[in-house]
Amino acid sequence: METKILTVDNTDPQLNKAIFTEAAKVINTGGLVAFPTETVYGLGANALDGTAVKKIYEAKGRPSDNPLIAHISDIKQLDALVKDISPVAQKLMKAFWPGPLTLVFMKKDIIPKETSGGLDTVAIRFPENRTAQQFITACGVPIAAPSANTSGKPSPTRASHVEFDLNGKIDMIIDGGSCEFGLESTIVDVSGDTPCLLRPGSITLEMLKEIAPDITVDKVVLGRLNDGERPKAPGMKYTHYSPDASVTIIRGSVEKTVAEINSLLEEHKAEKCGVIATEETKDGYNTKNVLVIGTRKHPETIAANLFKMLRKCDFYGYETVFVEGFPESELGLAIMNRLKKAAGYSIIELDK
Ligand code: TXA
Ligand code: MG
Repeated sequence: METKILTVDNTDPQLNKAIFTEAAKVINTGGLVAFPTETVYGLGANALDGTAVKKIYEAKGRPSDNPLIAHISDIKQLDALVKDISPVAQKLMKAFWPGPLTLVFMKKDIIPKETSGGLDTVAIRFPENRTAQQFITACGVPIAAPSANTSGKPSPTRASHVEFDLNGKIDMIIDGGSCEFGLESTIVDVSGDTPCLLRPGSITLEMLKEIAPDITVDKVVLGRLNDGERPKAPGMKYTHYSPDASVTIIRGSVEKTVAEINSLLEEHKAEKCGVIATEETKDGYNTKNVLVIGTRKHPETIAANLFKMLRKCDFYGYETVFVEGFPESELGLAIMNRLKKAAGYSIIELDK
């Protein structure tokens, strides 16, 4: 199949209208369209069409027990899809929708099992990215969309990443430039009595606690589960975001981190090594293979570049990668959650 790539141009509404009309035609005839959101690119199909949704799993190589998020572009679409919208769910929606927050509700029968992965619940997200909203509105149906990467690889934050993974396997890519936040949405389960954080993201735990002080945190958010334990978001159990290289996180004060990574570089000098560093540390390493992820002063720059840097490790063919660790507060919780998975939980703590 040939994958058509269409680039949005917000200075040309006429062109954009034609793009969204063409994309909607693909969705309404059961096809797949990748589209930008403020978090990462999504791979969309009609969320109400089980046959179309199945094609998403095939294109990504995704296990079929891993449910998808249904994306809407108007709060009015919600009632048809879910049961029991609790008062705390309403408060969270009011505070953070549209935006990078996904909420899990009890589902109505209209949601096919392919979208919900056979669960009684369904995850819903109302993105704030304008291109995403215009695309969903043009389709006239909720759009089921996981991140538009090959299963197990870092999520795509540019149309070129989607093309690299899925060219020839999907009908269309809408290129809307790079994604603002760069990490997938925060997921909160509001289907039970107390809300529970299932996946950390740019809406931080601290922000959620201001609205829902009794929110609990699923154990998988902080670290690896023991054998037999299961995360509440099925997708959190899979290895993820892994470049081909073996990745290790080194965490401690800036000085100790740089010194430890330099001694690891010496120890591994027979391998092709890379370092994922920050603006603050980039000049301290005894190697040219330094990728700068962002500045420690603005963690949102680190979040925005994280998946791009993991992809670059493959591009440069690194065999071994050392990445600096960060404190696990505010946005750091989501950044470390993704890095730990990329590293298969291999982490050296220098200050313990
Ligand atoms: O930012 C995002 O959320 C992006 C963009 C495209 O919106 N989407 C995304 O989708 O990250 P995906 O499929 O890569 O991750 C969805 C996660 C998975 O871990 C899945 O198991 C979980 O959400 N999930 C989906 N439905 C669920 C449900 N009913 N209950 C619990 N977890 C659910
Ligand atoms: Mg994903």
